[in-house]
Amino acid sequence: MQNYQDFLAEILIDEAAIQARVAELGRKISSEYAPGDLLLICILRGGVPFMVDLSASISIPHMIDFMAVSSYGVGRRESSRAARVTLDLQTDIQGMNVILVEDIVDSGHTISAVLQMLETRQPKTLKVCALLDKPERREAEVPIHYLGFTVPNKYVFGYGLDIDEYYRNLPFIGVADLDRYKPPA
Ligand code: IMP
Repeated sequence: MQNYQDFLAEILIDEAAIQARVAELGRKISSEYAPGDLLLICILRGGVPFMVDLSASISIPHMIDFMAVSSYGVGRRESSRAARVTLDLQTDIQGMNVILVEDIVDSGHTISAVLQMLETRQPKTLKVCALLDKPERREAEVPIHYLGFTVPNKYVFGYGLDIDEYYRNLPFIGVADLDRYKPPA
């Protein structure tokens, strides 16, 4: 099992920059919603560190919930995707102000499918808060109402983002040099 230093190309966003930006997003969200009127939904597993820090930096009373989805292609070229819910919410979101918290919007298929599915449950409002946006890879248009950082078209890891399910715990966002990365045996 490799240490991340073995394949880290560069630290793209360091811990201090992440924490400062998350605090800013928390302040912005706190100013835009009424106390008690807000539900954050974390998409497992990549959104967890971001969700924890974001929730702590939101000063108004709010609720949190979690869901997990796996997305898969429908149609021959997989240009559109559907999301299968593998862990559903505990909360009835009808009439609620909802913010979906995601680690990264890459192709956009995951968020797009989750938004469509949640819309059918009739929330009062439904917005997206993403830590990272990788716009060069976009295939499905999705609105990002609250954004941490735009990143280049490189494989990034840390602060929730994994490589083969590892390295989510790192406090920074790094770029992986995949030529130097060896998958766990
Ligand atoms: P989508 O392509 O926008 O549907 O992204 C789906 C998921 O792929 C994201 O929520 C991440 O968990 C994962 N993902 C996309 N790009 C990266 C990356 O650069 N590093 C780690 N995970 C990624």
